[in-house]
Amino acid sequence: MTVTPETASARQRGTGPQAPKHFLDIDRFAAAQLREMLDLAQDYKRGEDAPGGERPGAGKTLALVFEKPSTRTRVSFEVGMAQMGGRVTILDSQGSQLGRGESIADMARVLSRYVDAVLFRTLSQASLLEMAEYASVPVINGLTDKSHPCQIMADIMTFEEIKGPINGRRVAWLGDGNNVVASWIHGAALFGYALTIATPEGFAPDPATVKAARHAGADITLTEDPADGVAGADCVVTDTWASMGTNGGPTVQERVRALTPYRVDEALMDKAADHAIFMHCLPANREHEVSAGVIDGPRSAVWDEAENRLHAQKGILHWCLRP
Ligand code: CP
Ligand code: NVA
Repeated sequence: MTVTPETASARQRGTGPQAPKHFLDIDRFAAAQLREMLDLAQDYKRGEDAPGGERPGAGKTLALVFEKPSTRTRVSFEVGMAQMGGRVTILDSQGSQLGRGESIADMARVLSRYVDAVLFRTLSQASLLEMAEYASVPVINGLTDKSHPCQIMADIMTFEEIKGPINGRRVAWLGDGNNVVASWIHGAALFGYALTIATPEGFAPDPATVKAARHAGADITLTEDPADGVAGADCVVTDTWASMGTNGGPTVQERVRALTPYRVDEALMDKAADHAIFMHCLPANREHEVSAGVIDGPRSAVWDEAENRLHAQKGILHWCLRP
């Protein structure tokens, strides 16, 4: 291809014919692409070093950029990249010019000259999209205020390992209608699970996200009744009642008052399907969104779920870094 100033600029902005393979949100993919990433994840988990004869991470560098704290995302990407033969460099707001107001666009252009991909955990979806627009290397969403797609890839992998194909099964979300449930909503039509979301008034998920998913064919039920929410569910999922960077809106006391009826405890799990499993992206607040008896009990899949962040992300990295 002839490189003109226009095409060079489009490539630089990540929009041209050779635009990088970003992983921004689950609903931007075809089901077959997501399935390919999960198949690669299983290959890596089985111990394959070069699925399909390829080692796309070998010799590559991933930048991990954090505007918010992380344990699982940071360590699983760092370890995963090392296992794929690559390395990482880690930046946070305090230790980089990000905290002093350098623009995301400038950071994207500069990082693209040093590294082969960028994992970005950011306060706002707009910043993620700006990074992707100006990066000429793949950008991976490591959590924004709106979504957490890497988490849901690991969650689907975990569900299927324990209970078989998720297509046609029922997932229940209890509590705050936050960034993590948004990615569950994005995945519903693509993976074919029914999703029931039980939240109190004022904590429902973004209506536009639900509407778009339904338009794409997703089976999504919204309710304010926690018992209705878990009825018949094969998997019950919850998350913190106060996400990172939650400013304004309800106070902690108001959140606790509104959300306490949605705590996932043994009595609520008993209303789900027989052998239903419990998932939580972690970090968890025992006796807030989940009882210790559930998260530390036999129905909990949270440690497999946390482990699968590593394998699922290796599948995502493989897909993004493959030429
Ligand atoms: N679940 C998750 O993303 O955890 P961290 O915030 O520790 O990365
Ligand atoms: N909803 C949580 C998820 C943390 C992994 C948050 O955004 O803080």
